[in-house]
Amino acid sequence: MENATKNWEQMTYPFFNLKLNYALDALEPSIDSKTMRAHYELILESYIKNLNEILESRLELQNMTLCELYDYAKVNQDNLLSEQVGGVYNHFFYFTGLRPSTGQIVIGITPQATQKITSNFGGWKEFKQKFAETGLNLAGSGCVWLIKNHNNGLEIITTTNQNIPENCTPVLCLDIWEHAYFCKHLNSRQAYIDAFWNIIDWVKFSEKI
Ligand SMILES: [Fe+2]
Repeated sequence: MENATKNWEQMTYPFFNLKLNYALDALEPSIDSKTMRAHYELILESYIKNLNEILESRLELQNMTLCELYDYAKVNQDNLLSEQVGGVYNHFFYFTGLRPSTGQIVIGITPQATQKITSNFGGWKEFKQKFAETGLNLAGSGCVWLIKNHNNGLEIITTTNQNIPENCTPVLCLDIWEHAYFCKHLNSRQAYIDAFWNIIDWVKFSEKI
Protein backbone atom coordinates (compact mmCIF):
# COMPACT_ATOMS: atom_id res chain seq x y z
CA MET A 1 0.00 0.00 0.00
CA GLU A 2 1.32 3.42 -0.89
CA ASN A 3 0.09 6.79 0.17
CA ALA A 4 -2.79 8.12 -1.88
CA THR A 5 -0.94 11.35 -2.48
CA LYS A 6 1.37 9.50 -4.88
CA ASN A 7 0.21 9.55 -8.44
CA TRP A 8 -1.84 6.42 -8.92
CA GLU A 9 -2.53 7.37 -12.51
CA GLN A 10 1.06 6.31 -13.29
CA MET A 11 0.70 2.94 -11.55
CA THR A 12 1.29 -0.18 -13.65
CA TYR A 13 1.02 -3.93 -12.99
CA PRO A 14 0.86 -5.25 -10.31
CA PHE A 15 -1.87 -2.92 -9.13
CA PHE A 16 -2.49 -2.49 -5.41
CA ASN A 17 -4.99 -0.62 -3.31
CA LEU A 18 -4.19 2.93 -2.18
CA LYS A 19 -3.67 3.99 1.39
CA LEU A 20 -6.31 6.65 1.86
CA ASN A 21 -5.64 9.88 3.72
CA TYR A 22 -8.65 9.24 5.99
CA ALA A 23 -10.03 6.37 8.06
CA LEU A 24 -12.91 4.35 6.67
CA ASP A 25 -15.21 5.63 9.41
CA ALA A 26 -14.16 9.25 8.94
CA LEU A 27 -16.80 10.06 6.34
CA GLU A 28 -19.64 9.51 8.82
CA PRO A 29 -22.41 10.53 8.74
CA SER A 30 -22.33 11.23 5.00
CA ILE A 31 -21.10 7.73 4.19
CA ASP A 32 -21.22 5.07 6.90
CA SER A 33 -18.23 2.92 7.82
CA LYS A 34 -19.97 -0.33 6.83
CA THR A 35 -20.47 0.97 3.31
CA MET A 36 -16.90 2.24 3.14
CA ARG A 37 -15.44 -1.09 4.27
CA ALA A 38 -17.50 -3.03 1.74
CA HIS A 39 -16.85 -0.53 -1.04
CA TYR A 40 -13.15 0.09 -0.50
CA GLU A 41 -12.00 -3.24 0.91
CA LEU A 42 -14.24 -5.71 -0.91
CA ILE A 43 -15.52 -4.19 -4.14
CA LEU A 44 -12.46 -2.18 -5.12
CA GLU A 45 -10.09 -4.95 -3.98
CA SER A 46 -12.04 -7.36 -6.17
CA TYR A 47 -11.51 -5.21 -9.26
CA ILE A 48 -7.79 -4.95 -8.45
CA LYS A 49 -7.47 -8.70 -7.95
CA ASN A 50 -9.33 -9.47 -11.17
CA LEU A 51 -7.22 -6.98 -13.13
CA ASN A 52 -3.95 -8.43 -11.81
CA GLU A 53 -5.10 -11.95 -12.69
CA ILE A 54 -5.83 -10.90 -16.26
CA LEU A 55 -2.46 -9.15 -16.59
CA GLU A 56 -0.42 -11.90 -14.94
CA SER A 57 0.09 -13.72 -18.23
CA ARG A 58 -0.14 -10.67 -20.50
CA LEU A 59 3.44 -9.38 -20.48
CA GLU A 60 2.72 -6.91 -23.29
CA LEU A 61 0.22 -5.10 -21.06
CA GLN A 62 2.16 -5.00 -17.82
CA ASN A 63 3.82 -1.62 -18.38
CA MET A 64 0.57 0.14 -19.19
CA THR A 65 -1.18 2.61 -16.92
CA LEU A 66 -4.91 2.33 -16.26
CA CYS A 67 -5.75 4.81 -19.01
CA GLU A 68 -3.47 3.01 -21.48
CA LEU A 69 -5.03 -0.33 -20.55
CA TYR A 70 -8.49 1.12 -20.98
CA ASP A 71 -7.67 2.43 -24.46
CA TYR A 72 -6.19 -0.95 -25.38
CA ALA A 73 -9.27 -2.78 -24.10
CA LYS A 74 -11.64 -0.53 -26.01
CA VAL A 75 -9.70 -0.82 -29.29
CA ASN A 76 -9.57 -4.59 -28.93
CA GLN A 77 -13.16 -4.86 -27.66
CA ASP A 78 -11.94 -6.68 -24.56
CA ASN A 79 -14.94 -6.02 -22.32
CA LEU A 80 -13.68 -8.13 -19.42
CA LEU A 81 -10.44 -6.12 -19.27
CA SER A 82 -12.13 -2.72 -19.68
CA GLU A 83 -14.57 -3.52 -16.86
CA GLN A 84 -11.78 -4.34 -14.40
CA VAL A 85 -9.64 -1.38 -15.46
CA GLY A 86 -12.60 0.97 -15.21
CA GLY A 87 -13.53 -0.47 -11.83
CA VAL A 88 -10.08 0.36 -10.50
CA TYR A 89 -9.79 3.78 -12.17
CA ASN A 90 -13.22 5.02 -11.16
CA HIS A 91 -12.86 3.92 -7.55
CA PHE A 92 -9.33 5.33 -7.20
CA PHE A 93 -10.60 8.66 -8.52
CA TYR A 94 -13.68 8.63 -6.31
CA PHE A 95 -12.00 7.64 -3.03
CA THR A 96 -9.02 9.97 -3.42
CA GLY A 97 -11.37 12.88 -4.09
CA LEU A 98 -12.97 12.61 -0.65
CA ARG A 99 -12.00 13.79 2.81
CA PRO A 100 -13.67 13.83 6.24
CA SER A 101 -16.62 16.13 6.66
CA THR A 102 -16.07 19.63 7.98
CA GLY A 103 -19.77 20.18 8.49
CA GLN A 104 -21.12 23.33 6.95
CA ILE A 105 -17.67 24.84 6.66
CA VAL A 106 -16.22 24.54 3.19
CA ILE A 107 -12.42 24.45 3.27
CA GLY A 108 -10.08 24.60 0.35
CA ILE A 109 -12.04 26.14 -2.51
CA THR A 110 -9.88 28.71 -4.25
CA PRO A 111 -11.20 31.94 -5.80
CA GLN A 112 -10.04 30.57 -9.16
CA ALA A 113 -12.22 27.46 -8.72
CA THR A 114 -15.22 29.58 -7.82
CA GLN A 115 -14.60 31.79 -10.84
CA LYS A 116 -14.55 28.77 -13.15
CA ILE A 117 -17.70 27.30 -11.63
CA THR A 118 -19.43 30.65 -11.95
CA SER A 119 -18.37 31.27 -15.54
CA ASN A 120 -19.39 27.77 -16.64
CA PHE A 121 -22.55 27.19 -14.63
CA GLY A 122 -23.63 30.53 -13.17
CA GLY A 123 -22.58 29.74 -9.60
CA TRP A 124 -22.14 27.00 -7.01
CA LYS A 125 -25.87 26.59 -6.47
CA GLU A 126 -26.50 26.09 -10.16
CA PHE A 127 -23.54 23.73 -10.52
CA LYS A 128 -24.63 21.55 -7.60
CA GLN A 129 -28.19 21.45 -8.86
CA LYS A 130 -27.15 20.41 -12.36
CA PHE A 131 -24.68 17.82 -11.01
CA ALA A 132 -27.40 16.34 -8.78
CA GLU A 133 -29.98 16.30 -11.56
CA THR A 134 -27.53 14.55 -13.85
CA GLY A 135 -26.89 11.92 -11.21
CA LEU A 136 -30.56 11.40 -10.50
CA ASN A 137 -31.34 11.01 -14.19
CA LEU A 138 -28.70 8.33 -14.81
CA ALA A 139 -30.55 5.05 -15.20
CA GLY A 140 -28.78 2.11 -13.60
CA SER A 141 -25.20 2.11 -12.36
CA GLY A 142 -22.39 4.48 -13.17
CA CYS A 143 -20.65 7.69 -12.17
CA VAL A 144 -21.27 11.42 -12.47
CA TRP A 145 -18.27 13.52 -13.37
CA LEU A 146 -17.20 17.11 -13.63
CA ILE A 147 -14.68 17.18 -16.45
CA LYS A 148 -12.59 19.66 -18.40
CA ASN A 149 -13.07 19.43 -22.15
CA HIS A 150 -10.58 20.22 -24.93
CA ASN A 151 -11.38 23.91 -24.71
CA ASN A 152 -10.78 23.96 -20.95
CA GLY A 153 -14.52 24.33 -20.43
CA LEU A 154 -16.30 22.45 -17.67
CA GLU A 155 -18.97 19.84 -18.35
CA ILE A 156 -21.02 17.48 -16.21
CA ILE A 157 -21.17 14.03 -17.77
CA THR A 158 -22.08 10.49 -16.78
CA THR A 159 -20.45 7.15 -17.48
CA THR A 160 -22.34 3.87 -17.22
CA ASN A 161 -21.21 0.73 -15.43
CA GLN A 162 -17.40 0.87 -15.19
CA ASN A 163 -16.72 2.95 -18.28
CA ILE A 164 -14.37 5.86 -17.68
CA PRO A 165 -14.46 9.37 -19.17
CA GLU A 166 -12.58 9.61 -22.46
CA ASN A 167 -10.93 12.52 -24.25
CA CYS A 168 -11.19 14.87 -21.29
CA THR A 169 -9.64 15.67 -17.91
CA PRO A 170 -11.77 14.51 -14.97
CA VAL A 171 -12.09 16.84 -11.98
CA LEU A 172 -14.70 15.25 -9.72
CA CYS A 173 -16.25 11.78 -9.56
CA LEU A 174 -19.35 10.58 -7.76
CA ASP A 175 -19.92 6.83 -7.75
CA ILE A 176 -23.66 6.32 -7.91
CA TRP A 177 -23.79 2.56 -7.95
CA GLU A 178 -26.20 1.52 -5.19
CA HIS A 179 -23.34 -0.19 -3.36
CA ALA A 180 -22.00 3.32 -2.65
CA TYR A 181 -24.99 4.41 -0.59
CA PHE A 182 -27.67 1.78 -0.04
CA CYS A 183 -26.66 0.82 3.54
CA LYS A 184 -26.96 4.41 4.69
CA HIS A 185 -29.45 6.06 2.39
CA LEU A 186 -31.41 3.03 1.12
CA ASN A 187 -32.77 3.88 -2.32
CA SER A 188 -32.47 7.65 -1.92
CA ARG A 189 -29.79 8.66 -4.39
CA GLN A 190 -30.83 12.25 -3.67
CA ALA A 191 -29.85 11.94 0.01
CA TYR A 192 -26.50 10.45 -0.98
CA ILE A 193 -25.79 13.25 -3.43
CA ASP A 194 -26.77 15.86 -0.82
CA ALA A 195 -24.34 14.25 1.65
CA PHE A 196 -21.58 14.04 -0.97
CA TRP A 197 -21.01 17.81 -0.94
CA ASN A 198 -19.85 17.58 2.70
CA ILE A 199 -17.00 15.15 2.01
CA ILE A 200 -15.35 16.44 -1.15
CA ASP A 201 -11.66 17.27 -0.91
CA TRP A 202 -12.00 20.84 -2.15
CA VAL A 203 -8.24 21.37 -2.16
CA LYS A 204 -7.78 18.62 -4.73
CA PHE A 205 -10.87 19.80 -6.56
CA SER A 206 -9.41 23.29 -6.85
CA GLU A 207 -6.07 21.93 -8.05
CA LYS A 208 -7.70 19.89 -10.80
CA ILE A 209 -10.22 22.38 -12.02
FE1 LIG B 1 -18.35 1.69 -6.51
